[in-house]
Amino acid sequence: MKHISVAVDGPAGAGKSSVSKAVAKDMGYTYIDTGAMYRAAALFAIENGIDIRGERAALIIRLDEIKIALKNENGAQRVYLNGKDVSERIRQEDVSVGASDVAVIPEVRVKLVAMQREMAKTDDVIMDGRDICSTVLPDAQVKIFLTASVDARAKRRYDELTAKGVECDYEKLKKDIEYRDKNDSEREMSPLKKADDAALLDTTDLTFDEAVERVKELIRDVL
Ligand code: CDP
Repeated sequence: MKHISVAVDGPAGAGKSSVSKAVAKDMGYTYIDTGAMYRAAALFAIENGIDIRGERAALIIRLDEIKIALKNENGAQRVYLNGKDVSERIRQEDVSVGASDVAVIPEVRVKLVAMQREMAKTDDVIMDGRDICSTVLPDAQVKIFLTASVDARAKRRYDELTAKGVECDYEKLKKDIEYRDKNDSEREMSPLKKADDAALLDTTDLTFDEAVERVKELIRDVL
């Protein structure tokens, strides 16, 4: 039997991962967070003192040393970099910006896209990122572009970090989101853009539950 693949793309902070996680839980699918993989690659660079913007080659020659694993532990997804649990560390702002910088490098994308395709082979999956509809899973049965206004996205990110007790500055978060939007949309390889065959879902004025319901409706429509 062919597995179900649901592809969700969209800009930073649009709610892709929280919505996808909830949908995965309700529908019994496996959730795959591809952003976490770019974040782990960025953390490798940070921990090894590699200046991602200035020294691409230094990262590219060490790509084989980057081993990333996504594991499901007690219902929660944990992210491992070379055997170490980095799930919390990769959510910090320096890694968010670094992820957008490593994601520009074609060699990094080729490596991670191959891993992502492999992961989608064995299960029903909902996978979120920037290039899932167009590049990673072009044959996905359901394709969604999830977006929201910059202000709504910055506010959600602010609330999410504050709720976790992480101190943050709203204006700085908004600037980082704008930086990543520009970087992600203007890069040469697989820029962030709505695929022609993806459904557009703007969540600016939707509650979290409404967004989850809309995604489930889109899935039910094709099943
Ligand atoms: O959760 P948030 O939207 O803030 O970001 P993320 O999904 O964790 O992704 C972090 C960064 O990785 C993005 O800003 C993109 O530059 C990059 N990324 C990508 O290029 N392609 C993907 N499939 C997923 C993430």
